[in-house]
Amino acid sequence: MKSTRKQENWGSLIGVVLAVMGSAIGLGNFLRFPGLAAKYEGGSFMIPYFFALIFLGIPIAWLEWSLGRIGGSKGFHSTPGIYRILWKNRYSSYLGFLGLLVPVGIYMYYIFIESWSLYYAFLYLTGVFPLNQAENAYQEFFVNFTGIKQDGILFYSSQSHILYFLLFCYSINMFIIYKGLVKGIEFVSRIGIPLLFLIAFIILIRVLTLGTPNPEYPERNVLNGLGFMWNPGTQEKSFIESLMNADMWLAAAGQIFFSLSVGFGIIITYASYLKKNEDVLLSSTTSLAGNTFAEVALGGMITIPAAFVFLGQEGISESVFQLGFITLPYVFEKMTFGNFFGFLWFFLLFIAALTSSISMLQPSIAFLEEGLGATRRVSISILSFVTLFGSLFVVYFSKDLIALDIMDFWIGTLGIFLLAIIQVILGGWVVGADKILEEAQMGSIIKIPKFVKYVIQYISPGYLLIVFVAWLYQKLPEYIKTLQINFNARITFYFIVILSLFFIFLIVQANRNWNEKEKQL
Ligand code: ALA
Repeated sequence: MKSTRKQENWGSLIGVVLAVMGSAIGLGNFLRFPGLAAKYEGGSFMIPYFFALIFLGIPIAWLEWSLGRIGGSKGFHSTPGIYRILWKNRYSSYLGFLGLLVPVGIYMYYIFIESWSLYYAFLYLTGVFPLNQAENAYQEFFVNFTGIKQDGILFYSSQSHILYFLLFCYSINMFIIYKGLVKGIEFVSRIGIPLLFLIAFIILIRVLTLGTPNPEYPERNVLNGLGFMWNPGTQEKSFIESLMNADMWLAAAGQIFFSLSVGFGIIITYASYLKKNEDVLLSSTTSLAGNTFAEVALGGMITIPAAFVFLGQEGISESVFQLGFITLPYVFEKMTFGNFFGFLWFFLLFIAALTSSISMLQPSIAFLEEGLGATRRVSISILSFVTLFGSLFVVYFSKDLIALDIMDFWIGTLGIFLLAIIQVILGGWVVGADKILEEAQMGSIIKIPKFVKYVIQYISPGYLLIVFVAWLYQKLPEYIKTLQINFNARITFYFIVILSLFFIFLIVQANRNWNEKEKQL
């Protein structure tokens, strides 16, 4: 069956590469990665990180690009539609619900953090920051405006202005999506990604020229900061001992998925808008390389060394939010022209988050249009309603950021793992590694070596399953216990179940429509 809808395509190949890079480069690169690398002894973390990049990230990304282009050539752009035509089975389209749930679910809390970044950029611009006090002042500020102390407080306290920033971010995301693939997503990525690299370079130069800002602590210098970030092993542990940490291998794999937007259901949708002979391998590899560069060379060299030179090793927290939204503002306060660099940094985070969050909406838009025959206006309205409800839900259950945490676990980690597993089985075994590689090779100037077939068929699925089972074993009991003892965690979990049922219900309707169309042909 071929869809009868008018085919939408990217404006240019560079446009799609920048759009995929925009999706990939996000808060994961500039906040999550430095936090993890610092937690797991810097340089040692890079070993499991590059292992996961080579054996999970790159092959699965190639696979998603190929599956997407095949789906697009048959007129489908969403995972339910693409799975249905590639996996001739009554239930395959239902597995595709994860390709809708994962991006939309992540979007609901991701945009909240996006609004924090914009809020901080605004505070620097208007001179509210620096607070000119101890780090505690930033801590208190953060606790207040995020509503960590009490549920619902953001709706009725003096801190509710973060809601305006949330609504602004929300509107701008919807507006970009409304403008469509070329005039919306591609246009924003074409401006956003070069701007993001430019800003990151300016901040990087500032950080690398910080020298030894406090002569009382000569060991707190840039070189030692880079050493703390990158030297394998620590004073307490050797390199090999560090590598023995199973937790680090799981975290590295999780980071690769999150950072590359692999297993999100996004790449498959983006790639479905490619034209038949557009180079899949070069585009995917370029966007992977761009993301890795932004993460390792920029994200990894800014945050931690900057915090190190002012606060030393003991001042660096393992919590990503603490590092990004409490420690760094305190560090900017101590830096010459700190206000300006503070603004640049949070504006950079905002752009990175925006180009990622828009990509999380497109899969559902594509699905509503091709599955339910909705117009762009109708599909945006449905998605606006659902995501606004979800985001306000996250904002309401703000105590200890529990809703955010629960959604990040069940959707943003478990969901990604499951979707990636479905994808490697679909690509490597159902469609077949040979067919996938043949498809990937079409129009490509890069030649794929033969062994990649075995990576796709055996190594990636095997690696993924081991990581997944170990992760379940390690984390699931803790989160099940949280559900048992924490009422808000349970409500959030029920919300996720309802959201999943909602998508499944829509897929039932879409299948009816598709069956109907099939009969008519
Ligand atoms: N890939 C996006 C990020 O790194 C979601 O933030």
